[in-house]
Amino acid sequence: MTYRADTARYDTMQYRRSGKSGLKLPVISLGLWQNFGGTRDYPSAMEILGYAFDQGVTHFDLANNYGPPAGSSEELFGQVMARDFRPYRDELIISTKAGYTMWPGPYGDLGSRKYLLASLDQSLTRMGLDYVDIFYSHRYDPETPLEETMGALAHAVRSGKALYVGISSYPEKETREAHRILKEMGVATTIHQPSYSMINRWIENDHTIDACGELGVGMIAFSPLAQGVLSGKYNSKTDAEGTRGGNPNGTLRASHIEPRVLEAVDQVAEIARSRGQSMVQLALSWVLRRPEMTSALIGVRNLEQLKDNLGVLNNLDLTPEEIAKIDEATKNGQMELHPRPSGWLR
Ligand SMILES: NC(=O)c1ccc[n+]([C@@H]2O[C@H](COP(=O)([O-])OP(=O)(O)OC[C@H]3O[C@@H](n4cnc5c(N)ncnc54)[C@H](OP(=O)(O)O)[C@@H]3O)[C@@H](O)[C@H]2O)c1
Repeated sequence: MTYRADTARYDTMQYRRSGKSGLKLPVISLGLWQNFGGTRDYPSAMEILGYAFDQGVTHFDLANNYGPPAGSSEELFGQVMARDFRPYRDELIISTKAGYTMWPGPYGDLGSRKYLLASLDQSLTRMGLDYVDIFYSHRYDPETPLEETMGALAHAVRSGKALYVGISSYPEKETREAHRILKEMGVATTIHQPSYSMINRWIENDHTIDACGELGVGMIAFSPLAQGVLSGKYNSKTDAEGTRGGNPNGTLRASHIEPRVLEAVDQVAEIARSRGQSMVQLALSWVLRRPEMTSALIGVRNLEQLKDNLGVLNNLDLTPEEIAKIDEATKNGQMELHPRPSGWLR
């Protein structure tokens, strides 16, 4: 059956401007990193993606390497475009990135012009698109001149293959540099995509968030639920099987989550209960409390999780007392998440 978008799709979602640009994004965006790869069947993918768009989630985030296997998320999204989303192309913000290992040899990784522009062409082919809305440098490459990496982004805009460009996981100093270089080339840095959650505050600690606010660069937080840790699922005695943390080769190992993190999560659960909100909803409203933050970029395994997360729209406001309680609860519960901010490569 052909998908028809709900006519009420713009009734409840809220949209925020990305920095000082003309681009607005939904406060909740959906990423296809781990849950839309080769093993996901089309109907169940479309159930989630269609529901998201029906609720006003206009932004879908991809990257060349999403899957597994790498490339399969873009291929699946390409099928979605071809079969169901094509009539809505002008209502969608589709992003992709290049920066992590994609193909063997010296031209399939990091930040060279050669890699970025070849990868963008491959992504467009996989998704069956003429252009993406946002093209990102996925991580800072300390060995390539930033002028070259930013030049490749500027070229993507000039060639019409990307409408906007962004940077992901760039630390403060490199964010300022990237912004300066792009500005000289007449191209805006529309958005920065870092990891950010109440238990992963590196953008506050290294002042990247302040830099983006000052420069007028929007921000979209990835892993706002710390890959599921902020759902509380790793806090009970329940088996991690079937969750991201239960995958022995995955990006989150349940067995590596330290007790101090789980104690913090316990306390956050209590604060969520007192607000009549699920913990994931509290975690999302916390990320969105900052005016610099345009959108929270979630990942979901199923429709139930998506519905739970979208419930954040019922209560986005946090009092200063609640924020202080969360600070206290999480101050000893910070954790490092994959992928690490790329400034740490230095
Ligand atoms: N730029 C970058 O370098 C980068 C890196 C990572 C991610 N991203 C982007 O950010 C997106 C989101 O990242 P993420 O997937 O790590 O985000 P996340 O929202 O922090 O974690 C998603 C996981 O949390 C769990 N979850 C979500 N909602 C839940 C709920 N209501 N109840 C219980 N568990 C729930 C699910 O875990 P289970 O699977 O265990 O059920 C889900 O797979 C990605 O898809 C990608 O687009 C970008």
